[in-house]
Amino acid sequence: MASLLCVGVGHVGLPLSLKLWQAGHDVALVDIDISKIESLRQGVMPFLEDGSDELLALAAGSERFRPLTYGDERFPDQVAQAEYVVMTLGTPLGTDYTFRYDQYFDVLERMVPHLSEGVTLIVRSTVAPHFTHNVVTSRIAAQRDWVPGVDFHVSFCPERLVQGEAMRGIEELPEIIGADDRETARKAERLFRSLGAEKRIHHVSTVEAELAKLFLNTFRYTLFGLANEFAIIAEQHDADIFRVLEAANGGYPRGGIPRPGPSRGPCLGKDTATLAFSSSASMIAHAAIKTNENIVLHVAHELRAALGSLARRKVTVFGLAFKADTDDVRDNLTLPLVNVLDREGAVTGLYDPLVAGHDNSEVVRGSDAVVVMTPHSAFRSLGENDLVGLCGRDRREVYVFDLWNIWPWADRIFGRGSEEEHEDIGNGRVRLADARGHAAPARTGS
Ligand SMILES: NC(=O)c1ccc[n+]([C@@H]2O[C@H](COP(=O)([O-])OP(=O)(O)OC[C@H]3O[C@@H](n4cnc5c(N)ncnc54)[C@H](O)[C@@H]3O)[C@@H](O)[C@H]2O)c1
Repeated sequence: MASLLCVGVGHVGLPLSLKLWQAGHDVALVDIDISKIESLRQGVMPFLEDGSDELLALAAGSERFRPLTYGDERFPDQVAQAEYVVMTLGTPLGTDYTFRYDQYFDVLERMVPHLSEGVTLIVRSTVAPHFTHNVVTSRIAAQRDWVPGVDFHVSFCPERLVQGEAMRGIEELPEIIGADDRETARKAERLFRSLGAEKRIHHVSTVEAELAKLFLNTFRYTLFGLANEFAIIAEQHDADIFRVLEAANGGYPRGGIPRPGPSRGPCLGKDTATLAFSSSASMIAHAAIKTNENIVLHVAHELRAALGSLARRKVTVFGLAFKADTDDVRDNLTLPLVNVLDREGAVTGLYDPLVAGHDNSEVVRGSDAVVVMTPHSAFRSLGENDLVGLCGRDRREVYVFDLWNIWPWADRIFGRGSEEEHEDIGNGRVRLADARGHAAPARTGS
């Protein structure tokens, strides 16, 4: 088992550090956020992650698990002892739509003087093409006068977990190991093999691994963008996107169109933006960003149409977290929506039972409209009467817009056109005549 230093113990770094500890390694962790380190010392998870509380409670009582601050006098020694340094720092998006690497620059400045020869550094953040070589490898080589692949090793191994399912994902997901020489690849593989002997491992160069991560998220974000575009097109034709998807995907081997819904978050939207703004050949990535972000304008348009005007109307948005059943609010689409509503004079409220500071349902009281932006389980379980009760109004006074198809009784469900003029037949329904009075299509099948 190896001596490790994990730098940046956020949503990616902390679950991985815990799993590496569980695999038997000696794990020191450092984070610039002192409150996070203090919380780890107490054995308390600083954010929600399924299955992590129990593991942290065990790790916190062990000598092999050492949360550190930079001020800790053991920090230089921990760096020097580390056979592996795993870097899971944030790479947030700047206003120019490209990653900001300040966290990496800061860490390299603090750490590089103390590294020991032979160390292997694993870059696990999502980065732009060539960042690993041009910044991490090059800076260390220049500062220490070391030869990469001989005196030290740097590998890019992207994380592909889904928040909330991190603990399982770390064990089960295939690893992509990006390395530019055989010895570095071997050392990186040895670390990840310790997490699961059966783990599937793909060896590629560092830039290929960087692209693999960006391509994957851009691909998924493009699909979600397309699903959202289809939803709006379905609405414009007074069709129901869910019935269209069922018909298109059901039992058909080349189906797989995803369901629509607001989508962004700290991976999909961010990585797509970085790819879009780092290559002249990325038109579809730009379109994916636009189509996903357009939902905010679409919602504002629908609310305006339903309420007449947004001026002085109270609109409460349900869900600030970008993903269901998490408390992670990074890069959500809720705040852009609130900005649009605010600028039209609406009185906006935000309700998210999982996000501190927004968990008081009192904010819902008096709403003229409610919009569901995150499909938390807590929202799914709300009935129509519960919601009306929270609003403290008559049902007819509250317009409910559900972006996730979780409330069948909502006034509007994203992607669902007119509900009128249908008749049950067989396993589904047929449209008798559409709302605009066109001729009814012939009934077919059963
Ligand atoms: N969250 C995900 O689901 C996910 C999935 C795959 C990849 N990624 C990528 O992984 C990277 C990390 O993402 P995350 O969600 O864990 O971010 P995060 O913001 O949750 O974690 C980053 C951590 O680094 C710490 N940090 C910042 N500056 C530091 C410094 N100078 N020294 C030490 N620690 C410092 C922060 O305090 C924070 O705890 C990003 O590049 C992200 O794009 C994230």
